[in-house]
Amino acid sequence: LWTMTSFLEQAVDEIRRQVGDKKVLCGLSGGVDSSVAAVLVHQAVGDRLTCVFVDHGLLRKGEAEQVLKVFRDKFKINLIGVEAHERFLSKLSGVTDPERKRKIIGEEFIRVFEEEADKLGQIDFLVQGTLYPDVVESGTATAAVIKSHHNVGGLPEDMRLKLIEPLCWLFKDEVRALGEEMGLPDEVVWRQPFPGPGLGVRITGEVNAEKVAILQEADAIFEEEIRKAGLYRKIWQSFAVLPDMRSVGVMGDERTYAYTVALRAVNSQDAMTADWVRLPYEVLESVSSRIVSEIRAVNRVVYDITSKPPATIEWE
Ligand code: XMP
Repeated sequence: LWTMTSFLEQAVDEIRRQVGDKKVLCGLSGGVDSSVAAVLVHQAVGDRLTCVFVDHGLLRKGEAEQVLKVFRDKFKINLIGVEAHERFLSKLSGVTDPERKRKIIGEEFIRVFEEEADKLGQIDFLVQGTLYPDVVESGTATAAVIKSHHNVGGLPEDMRLKLIEPLCWLFKDEVRALGEEMGLPDEVVWRQPFPGPGLGVRITGEVNAEKVAILQEADAIFEEEIRKAGLYRKIWQSFAVLPDMRSVGVMGDERTYAYTVALRAVNSQDAMTADWVRLPYEVLESVSSRIVSEIRAVNRVVYDITSKPPATIEWE
């Protein structure tokens, strides 16, 4: 019988044998797959593993701090956190085309990652959190990770690293079980999927620091209310979007002209199709009233009631 404990023991043995006394690098995104892969490899090779976490500034509120805390304090993993907000924002300045935005973020991400890797000296192995369905879908594991994370061409060719892909025989639910087994916190194990380009594809039009801050606040309120209602784990993805529009409102006896926040919640099996979630009116009501009262720059909240197809899950 195949259990998580025996899988874990075997995987640790195998990685240990494969790595020997060489050094290993892992790109940590904070998502469940790379997190579980990192902790597993750390169990096998300890300090020979270095993780790099690129904070592109387009993460959810508090996410970067949480990742640093969990992996450094709880798991004592060598973790380099790169705060690159300015760098990404300046590259994105003036860019409105969705595909260009995605490409810029993906390429810059790889550039920052490589720069950090170069500083580490000789590295022989790269950990990737590829899952079985990614391998099946994309043909090769490397293609799978790059495709799923950033939709860019592939790893740079001069990155001659051998891949360690400890999760490549597992499905998502098995990865979660393994994560729980290794003591990863619920917030990591049960985190809803989040796109590699992050809030960059949830802010339509130009991305700037002001819009990122507004969206992070709105999204945090939505998440908090969804959790309070006990719905977080039942929903595939729920998040806020900041469309590139303002509309007229009224506050006291003043007219306002401010942003609209769109809420999106969908259920799905594999992200290929999705159905919008019939959220209880009370939840929508509390999210809406909190967003407009707590965020000055927002005067209107709408709920996206489109399924996929024809809409996509993300707005860009
Ligand atoms: P769409 O919006 O195409 O999204 O219906 C399907 C699923 O993929 C996620 N997504 C991405 N993930 N990089 C990623 O890592 C991306 O560029 C990207 N675009 C969309 C999305 O969150 C959903 O789960």
